[in-house]
Amino acid sequence: MDEATRQLIFEDAKKWVYQAGKQIRDQIDDQYQIDTKSDANDLVTAVDRSTEQFFAGKIREKYPTHSIVGEEGYGDKVESLEGTIWIIDPIDGTMNFVHQKRNFAISIGIFHEGIGEIGLIYNVMEDVLYSGKKGEGAYRNQDKLPPLGEQVNIETSIIALNSSLACENKRINEKKVQQLIKDSRGTRSYGSAALEFAFVAEGIIDAYLTMRLAPWDFAAGLILVEEVGGVTIQANGKPVNLLEKNTILTCNSKIKHQLLDEYIEFK
Ligand code: IPD
Ligand code: CA
Ligand code: CA
Ligand code: CA
Repeated sequence: MDEATRQLIFEDAKKWVYQAGKQIRDQIDDQYQIDTKSDANDLVTAVDRSTEQFFAGKIREKYPTHSIVGEEGYGDKVESLEGTIWIIDPIDGTMNFVHQKRNFAISIGIFHEGIGEIGLIYNVMEDVLYSGKKGEGAYRNQDKLPPLGEQVNIETSIIALNSSLACENKRINEKKVQQLIKDSRGTRSYGSAALEFAFVAEGIIDAYLTMRLAPWDFAAGLILVEEVGGVTIQANGKPVNLLEKNTILTCNSKIKHQLLDEYIEFK
């Protein structure tokens, strides 16, 4: 994608993100419908749905040849990474949205021929937009984010993870995760994968490890993290696949090998 096209799409995406964010804030105290999906804790609301519909409508009107992948099903059936694809999570952190009325984000990653071009993660209630364009760095609002630090090790790192990883589980060695919790400076669990990615890009946490994310959870985040010199891979070290669910490790590159070699072991 050429720079001018990228800039044009970026301006539209940003404008729509701010508009959608305002619509969400306007509804925050309303009585919206809440449903469940795969289980009783997997929530979706009328606001998730209307927000995704808003983006799909805008994109189809302005960019009819682009494809859309969205969590709530208003996108297209996308089976390859050809062309330009918008990967959208209208509300990432729906549980936080419902229970806390904060700590959730709009996440949009835009890819062209499989290459990440634009990432936007909008912390709606704090009005903080993390944004990035390929090769042009990442920003927190107007401020350019510096490259991730060089002097990082596990002992001085804050690691975000889902607490379930430290419980007995079928997939990974929970004893090693417990060791990671002991060895690191501290752990966090924010309940919004997109924000956890944004915090890695900002350098306020050093890694985020989780066992199951969909493309809309990490599409924007991986672009932002890459722009500050960080890395996003599957938890077994393989490259991520944008068309399916993945285990995810996103982190400061300096601690990648130690995390993979010493703390993440599949059973
Ligand atoms: C969820 C959040 C959560 C993560 C889940 C995601 P949603 O997204 O990002 O932090 O642990 O795996 O599904 O459903 O709130 O958009
Ligand atoms: Ca969801
Ligand atoms: Ca999500
Ligand atoms: Ca969502």
